[in-house]
Amino acid sequence: MTPVELTIVAPTYNERDNLEPLVRALSTHLDGLAWEVIFVDDDSPDGTAARARELAQRLPRVRCVHRVGRRGLSSAAIEGILASTAPYVAVIDADLQHDPSLLPRMLAALRGGELDIVVGSRYAEDGRVGEWTETRARMSTAATRLARLVVTAELADPMSGYFMMTRAAFDGAVHRLSGQGFKILLDLFASSPVPLRFKEIGFTFRPRVSGDSKLDSLVIWEYVLLLINKVTGRQIPPRFMLFCLVGAVGVVVHLVALRLALELWSFSSAQALATGIAMTSNFFMNNVLTYRDRRLRGWRLLTGLLSFCLVCSLGAVANVGVASAIFERDYDWWLAGLAGAALGAVWNYGASSVLTWSRR
Ligand code: GDD
Ligand code: MN
Repeated sequence: MTPVELTIVAPTYNERDNLEPLVRALSTHLDGLAWEVIFVDDDSPDGTAARARELAQRLPRVRCVHRVGRRGLSSAAIEGILASTAPYVAVIDADLQHDPSLLPRMLAALRGGELDIVVGSRYAEDGRVGEWTETRARMSTAATRLARLVVTAELADPMSGYFMMTRAAFDGAVHRLSGQGFKILLDLFASSPVPLRFKEIGFTFRPRVSGDSKLDSLVIWEYVLLLINKVTGRQIPPRFMLFCLVGAVGVVVHLVALRLALELWSFSSAQALATGIAMTSNFFMNNVLTYRDRRLRGWRLLTGLLSFCLVCSLGAVANVGVASAIFERDYDWWLAGLAGAALGAVWNYGASSVLTWSRR
């Protein structure tokens, strides 16, 4: 067998019925080339990974990387590329919205040696977004404008999820990639140590035939985080930034609750109540934002809250103790409250990552 020249990485989440049509389309368009497709599936409940393995048993060009306990389009794409040994790698959506007939042209362009990356673009000449709702189209335009903050390259479509690049260009950027969220292309351009030599090829973004889009409010949230991460330097992990944000909101919740409770109670009881309220609201905010990928649902929400309260109770005792001690030294109520809350926050972070949202 000839060595693989082109690996196509297709991240999947609940795409079971799209795998076979995609493989068929790839076979048609890449006929005569030494290619393979790697499905990177995040343990989809619909059994996508099992379907990919079935396909792979029939067709040696198909491979499957099955990830457990993790989510994310970007990180799936990165791991798929890392699992390949080919000199050229492409990333494509598995839902057939990206036109696979572009692939041979992308490969031909890269083989010339003058380019690092070829992007399938919805906004380049001939590119179309196809049948999109007005909201979706507006969101996309806004996100594209924001992308200009971190990507200087004159890309018409920095938000595209469809591209092919050389192994060398990927290797140059891989250690600096954030891997967060949906925007792998943006991440690549922002992370490459040298400006990527690129070309865009227009295509029409097709409507989805089977399954649902995973682009939700949290994907937008992750996108904003990716931008912040790239603008503020790459040292701060996004999860920690989320935690700080939740913590900051928690402090506001705490202080408002404390101020209200002080109307009725002594400082210690008021601070204890405010701590409880802040703890509960922090739990829910962290569950939706900070630990989105390990989000607790259903009855586990209850046990999670319980364990969160339990593991943090020690922190809460220290919180109230420290705050009361400071308050007794005649410091302002808000300063005392703030110091107690800060101590509690450190506890929440350490305890929650290990116990409440532990990786299963
Ligand atoms: N492994 C894995 N893990 N795959 C995922 C995940 C995940 O958490 N989330 C989504 N995917 C896969 C989907 O199964 C699909 O194959 C592909 O990533 C794109 O997901 P969609 O949910 O279909 O995204 P979209 O069509 O709304 O968005 C596409 O267009 C955007 C441009 O507006 C994507 O290509 C985006 O990257 C692109 O920015
Ligand atoms: Mn899609």
